[in-house]
Amino acid sequence: MDKNKLFTLAEQAAENSYSPYSKFRVGAALLCEDGEIICGSNIENRSFGLTNCAERSAIFTALSKGQTKFKALAIYCPDADYAVSPCGACRQVISEFTDSSFPIFFAGNNKKYTESTIGELFPYNALDELKDN
Ligand code: THU
Repeated sequence: MDKNKLFTLAEQAAENSYSPYSKFRVGAALLCEDGEIICGSNIENRSFGLTNCAERSAIFTALSKGQTKFKALAIYCPDADYAVSPCGACRQVISEFTDSSFPIFFAGNNKKYTESTIGELFPYNALDELKDN
């Protein structure tokens, strides 16, 4: 896996963020099993609750293109001086389409990527047993 390419694409995706309300840009790059990388940005709305995070933008775009298997996700936030991990809603959505060992890399503006897995970020996922059967 070319992690640096994934990180670079997440950083580029943050530039496409639509975040006039929070001014908190986020980019995500999702590596699909066949090698395609699909990016997403956070897209806000004046009705705040309609905001879509970068991670879900990437996953929903990938699924809509017919991608169903994923190998890794990188998340970058240029507006935070800490590593920004996925919100609870995104953890739930990511877990729907990945195994617990699925790697997630996340960073703030120092670009030092923390590595975790969806199993660590969202443990006791009830879908794990279902996926095995
Ligand atoms: N946001 C993301 O896109 N991903 C995260 O992991 C954290 C939060 C977005 C949602 C909102 O547009 C802004 O960041 C502030 O919460």
